[in-house]
Amino acid sequence: MVKIEALIRPQRLEEVQEALRELSVGGMTVTEVRGMGHQRGVTHTYRGSTYTVNLVPKLKLEIVVPKERVDEVVEAIVQAAKTGEVGDGKVFLIPVDGAVRIRTGERDVAAL
Ligand SMILES: Nc1ncnc2c1ncn2[C@@H]1O[C@H](COP(=O)(O)OP(=O)(O)OP(=O)(O)O)[C@@H](O)[C@H]1O
Ligand SMILES: [Mg+2]
Repeated sequence: MVKIEALIRPQRLEEVQEALRELSVGGMTVTEVRGMGHQRGVTHTYRGSTYTVNLVPKLKLEIVVPKERVDEVVEAIVQAAKTGEVGDGKVFLIPVDGAVRIRTGERDVAAL
C-alpha cells in the first residue's frame, strides 16, 4: 500500500473529489494546512509597499491505496488539480506497511 499525500489549491478540492469518485476511491483525509514551495510564498504590493506572505493556505489530501492503483489515482489528482500556474501543489508517495479497519479487524488492502 502507498499513501498518496497531495498538497493542492483549496479551490481545486471539488474537481479532485469528483475525479476520485469516478475512480471509486473510498477513504480520504483532508486537512487545512499552510505551506510554501519554491517561490517561498507570494509577494503582494499594497499602497506602494511590497510584502511577502510566506505560508499560503493549501489542502493536504491523504489517500491510502493498493500499490497497483497508485499511478491512476496520482494521474487523476494531477489532472484535476492543475491550473498551470505556480503553486499548483505537489504529490508525495509514502510506503504504508499496514492498515486495520477498527470495526471488523480487517487488515491491509481489505481494510482500505
Ligand atoms: N519540498 C516540499 N516538502 C513539503 N511540502 C512541500 C514541498 N514543496 C511544496 N510543498 C507543499 O506544496 C505546496 C505547494 O507547493 P508549490 O506548488 O508552490 O511547489 P513549487 O515547487 O513551488 O512548484 P511551483 O513552481 O509550481 O509553484 C506548498 O505550499 C507546500 O505546502
Ligand atoms: Mg510554488
